[in-house]
Amino acid sequence: MKSNIVFTYGMIFVLLISCSTPKEPEDTSWQFDPALETKVSEIVSSLSLEEKGKLFYGNGKFWSAGIERLGFSEVQYADGPLGIREELGRHSWSPAGWTTDSATFFPAGGGLSASWNTELAYKYGVAMGAEARARNKDYLLAPAVNIQRSPLGGRNYEYFSEDPVLNAAFAVPMIKGIQSQDVAATIKHYAINNQETRRGSIDVLASERTIREIYLPVYKAAVMEADVYSVMCSYNRFRGPYVCENEFLLRDILKGEWGFKGTVMSDWGATHSTVESALYGLDISMGDGGEGTYHETYFGDPLVEAVQNGDVPMEVFDEMAERVVRVLLNVNKDDPTRKTGAINTPEHHKLVYDVASESIVLLKNDQDILPLNTGQIKSIAVIGDNATQTLASGGFGAGVKALYEITPLEGLKNRLPNTEINFAQGYEEEYERRGFVGIPDYEGNPELVAEAVEMASNSDVAIVFVGGNRQVESEAADRTTMELPFGQSELVSAVAEANPNTIVVFVAGTAFDIREIEGAASTIVWSWFNGSEAGNAIADVLLGTVNPSGKLPFTMPKKLDDSPAHATNSFPGNETEVSYEEGILVGYRWFDTKDVEPMYPFGHGLSYTNFEYSSPSTNKSSYSSSETIELTVSIENNGDVYGKETIQVYVQKNNSEVMRAEKDLKGFTKIEVSAGESETATISIDVENLAYFDEDSMSWVVEPGEYTFLIGSSSRDIRGSITVAIE
Ligand code: BGC
Repeated sequence: MKSNIVFTYGMIFVLLISCSTPKEPEDTSWQFDPALETKVSEIVSSLSLEEKGKLFYGNGKFWSAGIERLGFSEVQYADGPLGIREELGRHSWSPAGWTTDSATFFPAGGGLSASWNTELAYKYGVAMGAEARARNKDYLLAPAVNIQRSPLGGRNYEYFSEDPVLNAAFAVPMIKGIQSQDVAATIKHYAINNQETRRGSIDVLASERTIREIYLPVYKAAVMEADVYSVMCSYNRFRGPYVCENEFLLRDILKGEWGFKGTVMSDWGATHSTVESALYGLDISMGDGGEGTYHETYFGDPLVEAVQNGDVPMEVFDEMAERVVRVLLNVNKDDPTRKTGAINTPEHHKLVYDVASESIVLLKNDQDILPLNTGQIKSIAVIGDNATQTLASGGFGAGVKALYEITPLEGLKNRLPNTEINFAQGYEEEYERRGFVGIPDYEGNPELVAEAVEMASNSDVAIVFVGGNRQVESEAADRTTMELPFGQSELVSAVAEANPNTIVVFVAGTAFDIREIEGAASTIVWSWFNGSEAGNAIADVLLGTVNPSGKLPFTMPKKLDDSPAHATNSFPGNETEVSYEEGILVGYRWFDTKDVEPMYPFGHGLSYTNFEYSSPSTNKSSYSSSETIELTVSIENNGDVYGKETIQVYVQKNNSEVMRAEKDLKGFTKIEVSAGESETATISIDVENLAYFDEDSMSWVVEPGEYTFLIGSSSRDIRGSITVAIE
């Protein structure tokens, strides 16, 4: 049995040392390395004003100056998070037209976190870091970790979760993995940036407790546990000032409280000032200007002038330079021993297959149609445009020039060469162009539906691929509705009526209104924008070669108005501001506290086997605030096949003096159990992680008293509980 215990990363790293970890991330806190600091100071004190003045602004779309005299070549940046973005023109967003810039398409963030396997997150980081190095990048613009506040969020597919604990559990190992390859991870988009609507101007208002408990923990963990080298500040404002000139978020919290020593980099075009930005904590301004004019932008000549006339003190300027140099030294910039990376390797393709196949969620299997009994199946009708969609690029925002991408139809054909597989498109994409993005049409195409129904009724099994795609879910635009576009729900109803052996497979990065499909279909599977090997992975899950073990990293509401930001009518706000009225009750915290039944709860996902939970226990019955609770539970696989189960631990504070969510995820672990065997799952929870943020004292407080841990297979499938006392 292998078990990855989320809160003790040390254990994970013991297992992963063999995957080429150059520095031991657990032992070396780069941010406080005295030898390195001496070198940083020496270099910065040797720089002229002019040399320093070139370090802080993009002098191409994804470039900034190095320090030629000292042998530091230009600094190169590349977008993640789906893989290393194709090369763009130095001064334009158009592709540079290289023929050697294809890369591995990694499963998008939502898919990665649905695996609930944090070992995979580390390996994913190592592989993506290696691909970045193979393309000679210094900064990788990943991971993207914004909390999924609303199902409509256009970039939800890039982000990990609605839950801060799950979010941080993936961000930390992924950053360590990326940085193990001598490339700087850039966690984005800091912070409280949870919508695309008016993202460049919206002023976000949220209570202190809300930001501390929900929106900031992932960044804090990235800085304090993963030693992330770089943080990207987001487009929005927070409580007035833009984030990239927000003293509270950048100086006070990030660089002050958390002691961040790396670079704060603006999102592309998110800088709005010279003096305020420098004073309040921005170090590198990206995405402004163009050929011949970069030096005129905020952090070009105007910054040097501001230093010369005293508006920006020299100490601030020097500190910025120290940060830039510190990161360059940490990634071994231009050092002969620097890792050179590897791209499109069989190992990376195997990894994306592993992630994809562990992330697929079996939502419902009421008739036990899955896994497919191929011995009895002669013909399969594969229906739906999503069976042939490629997802590495499209819509607005970063994509990958994938070396290859297996679609679901190709995956099924690969795996079932001797079965008759026919394809009917079923629905077609149609959009009305609006600005950067297309607003999808909600009408179906009756002829395509008729063709699909005909094919389904003449086949043993129908598999209908529906969901979103890279146009429907896109950067720069939130969706306007949770409805499935292009008449997909009606298509499923018609096909399911024609053939009771209908399986619905969603390919999507976020929740949709699936009420009609839920009523029509007995079997529903959820896949994601799942990378180069997506099609092989989904085929293997349908065939039972892989026993599904993914679990939803978000709540699937029945309808939009049930979800917190919409129930409180606070998404996407008015013309100028959005106030997060639901406070800390984001995602399942809202559904559980307000007793609203979701379509599928957070953490839900079935298996082809059954797991029985028994004997939950803790190592002690009462703890002090500096202790760690060791919780164990026995998991028996009482089905016929090997499987993996994610055990989730939620906490409930009994008789709390403050408002609490009904339950909060505090830990989880994913274990493998052979058929007929039992294994013990162990989850460690530091008592200090039970704290709430107290707005009166502006500090974290662990309330003494009783806490009940709910141990479950999902947030609403609780299999046992145990109560402990905290002194
Ligand atoms: C996105 C970032 C991205 C940057 C550079 C921005 O529009 O918000 O996530 O890294 O562009 O492509």
